Amino acid sequence: MLGIEQKKNYVIHYHNQTKHYPNRFASAPGFLEWDTQPNPFRFYRGAEKIGLPFRKDVKEIPYLNIYKNKINPTKDFNLQNLGIFLEYALGLSAWKSIPGATWSLRINPSSGNLHPTEGYLVLPDLPDLKSGIYHYSPYLHSLERRALLTSSLKEKLFEFFQGEGFVVGLSSIYWRESWKYGERAYRYCHLDLGHALACIRMSANLLGWNVTCLNQFSHEDVDEILGLRQMQQIPAEIEEGDILCLVHHSKDFHSFDSFSYEILEEFRKLDFSGVPNQLSGEHVDWEIINIVASNCKKDRTASTPQVSPDYPPMKDYPKNSSSAHIIIKGRRSALAMDGETSITKDQFLSMLDKTLPRSDAIPFDLELCEPKIHLVLFVHRVEGLDQGVYIFVRNPDDFKLLRTKLNPEYSWGQVEEDFPLYQLAKADVRSVAAAISCGQAIAGDSAFSLAMLANFEKSVHVDPTCYPVLYWESGIIGQVLYLEAEAHGVRSTGIGCFFDDPVHEYIGLKDNSFQSMYHFTVGGAVDDVRLQTLRPYHHLK
Ligand SMILES: Cc1cc2nc3c(=O)[nH]c(=O)nc-3n(C[C@H](O)[C@H](O)[C@H](O)COP(=O)(O)O)c2cc1C
Repeated sequence: MLGIEQKKNYVIHYHNQTKHYPNRFASAPGFLEWDTQPNPFRFYRGAEKIGLPFRKDVKEIPYLNIYKNKINPTKDFNLQNLGIFLEYALGLSAWKSIPGATWSLRINPSSGNLHPTEGYLVLPDLPDLKSGIYHYSPYLHSLERRALLTSSLKEKLFEFFQGEGFVVGLSSIYWRESWKYGERAYRYCHLDLGHALACIRMSANLLGWNVTCLNQFSHEDVDEILGLRQMQQIPAEIEEGDILCLVHHSKDFHSFDSFSYEILEEFRKLDFSGVPNQLSGEHVDWEIINIVASNCKKDRTASTPQVSPDYPPMKDYPKNSSSAHIIIKGRRSALAMDGETSITKDQFLSMLDKTLPRSDAIPFDLELCEPKIHLVLFVHRVEGLDQGVYIFVRNPDDFKLLRTKLNPEYSWGQVEEDFPLYQLAKADVRSVAAAISCGQAIAGDSAFSLAMLANFEKSVHVDPTCYPVLYWESGIIGQVLYLEAEAHGVRSTGIGCFFDDPVHEYIGLKDNSFQSMYHFTVGGAVDDVRLQTLRPYHHLK
């Protein structure tokens, strides 16, 4: 067993080792072996499949209700509503096609569209479904039953959760990303996981359901509860449990201890069925990923409720946009930006505002962790705002440290009263923004792009198991920006490929107190007219 210091050193080593530089990219396959591309869909052979209903409601829910707590009518836990929940959390959103190739897209975006994240449910008895542990198949929009719960386990869970509710579990299959991205894949898997978490929280909220992260469980617990340890896995395609969340009706703050040893023992002994499909015929072993993953494994801890800073109420903007479900399903990554479209200052501020980690605003009420991510913004085309570099300080506790660590010549002029956005420098940063995002033009041809800066001093330096959680927080912010762009009539794209240290150098960072985790860009998209769009579940009809 490694001590915390060794684990910390290893995690920092991984982070440094997987940085991209203009003259040296992180180690990855030189070319793509299309024959071994991993199947993005997991199936359990032999597991009973239960088809889920789709959303049929005609009553549309206003877009802004996605972010508001206690506003949507509370729906019952039943098969119909589970179907809607999963359809708008992890389901397919469309198929795209060009002559010779067809691929699916999902509600939750994924780096390279490779989809390393899998979803599971631990359900109590519902009017039309037996209690058990289920895998969600987005391809079939079905549940695959992996195990039934024993009556004693059902009782204990009901008692433990003080009433009705169910557990959602998320896991990652690193091979799906390392097939293309090699050593950097661990980062992408956890960014994707953050996006999926936000999707889950938002979809649940539209049904009036609350979601609380059960961050007290150890990684081992998560694996055992989801049945990942109780099955034969192909070592190169190892699937690892990441997080469990409780979906519940309670409007009040919820905090739970870890399951008792007794409850875990009952999960361990369940009779799991279904054999996971093999995803690729051949594999490449990226050992560094297994090592960093094992050094980031969390032990059982006390549940840590999140204390959120105080912020002014959320801006009620945009008011007249489309319905929540249409925006969620219509979300797409921009493949190219037009280099022309601008947004207004109000739109810009409203997009940033939604990323503030208010404890009563979705998706930041998950109780995941204290906010540690700040946004360094490259403003190109925002009417009423000078071009230049800005910073959005999402946690005021970090303000002083940021001021000390970033370029001492920055002006730190606050843009608006009571809003933590500061202008650092006026400049045309279009070329710089594109250059530091691995030369991707989408970062300079947009209205604005950004780097998500994590406080490493307060997280990884103290507890290396925070490392994946920093990516989760970044992915959650990314998901909000994706939907906000859509709601404001523009588009956005997550950017996992960026030159790490050149970003840090550009903003004057001289040590690793803060590190860039994820880039993002928002602007007017240029659509690829060759692409044909098909309905998400046309293949089931
Ligand atoms: C974590 C993450 C990193 C990404 N990195 C890039 C990137 O560097 N460049 C890019 O063009 N697209 C990037 N994307 C966009 C994905 O390619 C896109 O999400 C995927 O193809 C699915 O398409 P969709 O978002 O339209 O559903 C990224 C997406 C995510 C979630």
